[in-house]
Amino acid sequence: MPGVATVTVQELRQMLAQSTPPLLLDVRESDEWQFCRIEGARHLPTSQIQQRVGELEPMQETVVYCHHGVRSLMVQADGHSIGLFNVEGTFYAIDNTCTHRGGPLGEGALSGDTVECPWHGAHFNVKTGAVTAPPAGTGVRSFPVKVEGSDVLVEVD
Ligand code: FES
Repeated sequence: MPGVATVTVQELRQMLAQSTPPLLLDVRESDEWQFCRIEGARHLPTSQIQQRVGELEPMQETVVYCHHGVRSLMVQADGHSIGLFNVEGTFYAIDNTCTHRGGPLGEGALSGDTVECPWHGAHFNVKTGAVTAPPAGTGVRSFPVKVEGSDVLVEVD
């Protein structure tokens, strides 16, 4: 069960000053990377995570960042790309890949317990993964989530 903890800018600064700093992973898209980046970061866009997850060392401490924090909250584990959603203080996790054409659901707008795919507008219930509006025809998998302190734990089996 992988955990996702958040760190402050100050904490990250301290972590990067250590003799064995964590991998700093930038999951923004290429146009964002070209515009600006943190020196020493490694670029792996969210849209390519599932295909390239094997390039990452699973045991290496990694700090993931993006623009607003939504993409970096997506859990990348065992080849799964998972969208993580906070609905009134309760976290829910579903497969991040829209069943229509692969849109990143974790980047979609959340309204209540419904996320809208950012690419063509399909709706999914983030509690169950069920599709509730086209053009997607089938739902996505949902994953159990629990919170321990500042860690959000997602069970991906
Ligand atoms: S990729 Fe999600 S609605 Fe088309």
